[in-house]
Parts: sequence; C-alpha cells; structure tokens
Amino acid sequence: MTQADLVVVANRLPVDRVVGEGGELSWRRSPGGLVTALEPVMRRADGAWVGWPGQPDIDVEPFEFEGTFLVPVRLSAEDVELYYEGMSNDTFWPLYHDVISEPRYRRVWWDSYVKVNRRFAEAAAKAAAPGATVWVQDYQLQLVPQMLREARPDLTIGYFHHIPFPAYGLYSQLPWRRQVLEGLLGADVIGFQRVADAGNFARAVRRQLRYDTKASGITVPNPDGTTRRALAKAFPISIDAQSYVELAERDDVKARAKEIRESLGNPRKILLGVDRLDYTKGIRHRMKAFGELLEDGRISVEDVTLVQVASPSRERVEAYMQLRDEIELMVGRINGDHDTMGHTAIRYLHQAYPREEMVALFMAADVMLVTALRDGMNLVAKEYVAARVDNRGVLVLSEFAGAADELPSAIRINPHDIDGMKDAILRAIDMPAAEQGRRMRALRKKVLENDVARWSRAFLDALADARRYTQYIAPR
Ligand code: G6P
Repeated sequence: MTQADLVVVANRLPVDRVVGEGGELSWRRSPGGLVTALEPVMRRADGAWVGWPGQPDIDVEPFEFEGTFLVPVRLSAEDVELYYEGMSNDTFWPLYHDVISEPRYRRVWWDSYVKVNRRFAEAAAKAAAPGATVWVQDYQLQLVPQMLREARPDLTIGYFHHIPFPAYGLYSQLPWRRQVLEGLLGADVIGFQRVADAGNFARAVRRQLRYDTKASGITVPNPDGTTRRALAKAFPISIDAQSYVELAERDDVKARAKEIRESLGNPRKILLGVDRLDYTKGIRHRMKAFGELLEDGRISVEDVTLVQVASPSRERVEAYMQLRDEIELMVGRINGDHDTMGHTAIRYLHQAYPREEMVALFMAADVMLVTALRDGMNLVAKEYVAARVDNRGVLVLSEFAGAADELPSAIRINPHDIDGMKDAILRAIDMPAAEQGRRMRALRKKVLENDVARWSRAFLDALADARRYTQYIAPR
C-alpha cells in the first residue's frame, strides 16, 4: 500500500456510495464543507483519508478518488449501533451539548468505542509514511491520537473537535473522563471552535490529570519520565465562501430564488431555518416564538412565512425520533390554526437539498433564524451571509452557537428567552434596508476573509510549528 505524508482520519469518508439504475456502484464527493476545504490540501500532499463508507458491513478496498487515497474502515451493524449511534451520538453528543438531551452511559457502548477507535488508529498508522502528519477529526475518534502516538511516535498528530467541549461540571459526569482526556492529549495540537471550549478542556485536564497548563500549552508526561508540550487552542472553522458567492451570482440560481418566493404566495417577508433535525438546534423554540407571534396577531400568514428545512439525521437514535414527532406535531398545530387556502404559516421540509437550491433559498429569505441551544460553530449562519451578495437580509443568531463569537453584527438572541426571540424576529422583519446593508457588509467581510482554506492553513501551520518544537529523535 502506498503511504501518505498527510493522513486525515474522520468517522466518514469524504464520499457517498451511490447505486446506479443498473445496480452499478460508484462514489460521489460528499457535499460537506470539510471535504471541500481539504480537497486542495489533500491533492497537493498526495494525502490519504481514513473513514467509514457510511453503510454497515460493506468491504471496500482502498481506492484513489480525485487525487486522494481513500482508506475505508469497516463497521459492522453492531459497531454502528454501539460505537456510532450509542457512544458517539447518545453519550458524547448530548453530554458535549450541555445535556440538552440526557446522555446515556453504557459500558458496552464504551467498549465498542475503544475497539472501533483502535481500528481507525491502526488503519491510519498503516496509511501514514514515516514522519507523516495525521489529522484526526471530531468526537467520534477522541482516543485515536493517543493510540496513534503509541504505535507511531514518529508522527505529528493533530486533532480538531468540531463540537463544543462542555464545562467541567458537566464533563465530569463521564465515567471515562480520564481516558478521553488522555486520548486527546496524544495529539500535538488539539483544536477547538471557541476560546471557551479550549478553556473548558484545559480546566478538565488540570482537574482530572493535574497537568500544568499555561496559556494554550499543556505539559504532558511521556512514559519515559520526560515531558512534551501539547497545544490546545481555538481555530474557528468556516466555509468555502467563494463557492457560495459564485452560486449566488448565477442567473439560474437567482431565477430560482424568485420562483421560491412566488411559490410561497409572495409573502412580504420570508423567514428561514435550515438545520439537521437535531435537538441542539432549537427548532422547537424557534417555532414556539413564531407560533406565538401569529397567535398574538403581531404577524399574519399573508405577510410572513417561515420555511423550515430539517434534514433527516441519526434516525435510529431515540432522542431524534422523539424530536421529529414533537416538531411535526407543532408544525401541524400551528399550520392548522393559521393557514389559509393561499398561505401557509410554516413550510416544513424534512429533506436534504443540493447546494444550488440552498443558495436560492438563502437569497429568497429576508431573515435567517439560527436559534441553536448549543452548537460548535453553525456553518449555516456563514453560508447565509456568504450567499447574500446583494448585502440584504438579516441574520438572527443564537449566542450559544460558536459563530456568535465572530459575527457580532448579527442580531444576537438567547433562544431560551421566547419573548426576547419574538422581539428580535419582529425587529429583523422590520429592519430598514440601510441597516440591513450596514450589518450584512460587516458580516460578509468576516466570512469572506476567514474562509475554510484559511482555517485548514492555520491549523496545519500550528501543527508544523509543533513538530519543529518537539522534533522526534529516532532511536539509534
Ligand atoms: C456534526 C458533527 C460531524 C458529523 C455531522 C453529521 O457536524 O460535528 O462530525 O459528521 O454532524 O452527523 P452524522 O452523524 O450524520 O455524521
């Protein structure tokens, strides 16, 4: 097997498996931002990507795809249930998002998580050339950095945490809290979305492991009694902003935006929510505020429509099934009470759409509602801003989303404060064009400057520095 100088390790491969009409199999690049971001870097470095092909029990040999060597990791149906749906998405996900949903601590899930993390670490160790850089992604793989370091002390190892890292009072619930910290500290650089996440991590390390932390540096003991330095720091992720600008400037996409407005009955204002159907996103809070505004008679369905795209996600996890039922009950009630023959209160779409359609929707929407109760970053907020090449539209943004740190010109809200959210929505609906322009220009400047290419460069540069600092000396 060829070995790469740069290896990305993520739960999912950057491709989706598609079955053609005649039953033939092929692969298509996944739409995700991370994938787009890393594509040029991977191509330049002759990189490899280690990940799960997205379906249980399929065996796929490593293969080359658009300049990247893909190394599939097989997960059995049982691995998917215990490691992915269980430990990753019913323990870590709710715990790290401030226990919005109650995390479940199950020892069989943990055992599977350790076993599957080892499988990813072994695949990465095999794919990495001597002295290579390995970049591990996200909470599904928190033990991989340490496992890799033990197997391959010659590697430079980075880890990026895409979701929040919770306050110590919550983190300390985790029965395996020490193992996870030790797993992460196998990395030379541990990246977080917000400064607060890096701070929470450093505090957990101090409290649980008693290691010294100074600014972003953590002193980690080696097995031989010497020490090394790990860096834990914020690197806020972004989007490929230019690709949104290009789509927004296309005539067919502009025409589609107009068509969307018309098909909704040309309401005076369109509000938009775009989320994975997840309890962290505050979809119920948003609908409650919107429903009350209709109820109070402060808006009417002829005037204002809410379009809610909720893309299907983790559909076999109980909390997600329950949330879907709750949301669909709410939509039914609100629409039942307020719809007219010609106008709807909420146009609810439990579907995923290609990027062109999303950009058309962003352009059609006067107000974008990002009301997350907790969110690592929230890239939808940045996508909306990038798509508004006309410098119009209003972003209402939860202070509990990582994006709030970088986007102070949005209308900031606390989604738990329903009255506050109602006032913010009305303010957004009525905002004069000049103020929209002022705010949107400031938002766009931030998003266009800090795009995802800059993010990956900043992280990889920090990793290269770390390598110079702790140069591995091969035993003679
Ligand atoms: C979040 C996580 C990602 C994850 C994505 C989709 O953004 O940070 O790691 O891939 O959600 O979730 P899924 O479970 O479908 O991979």
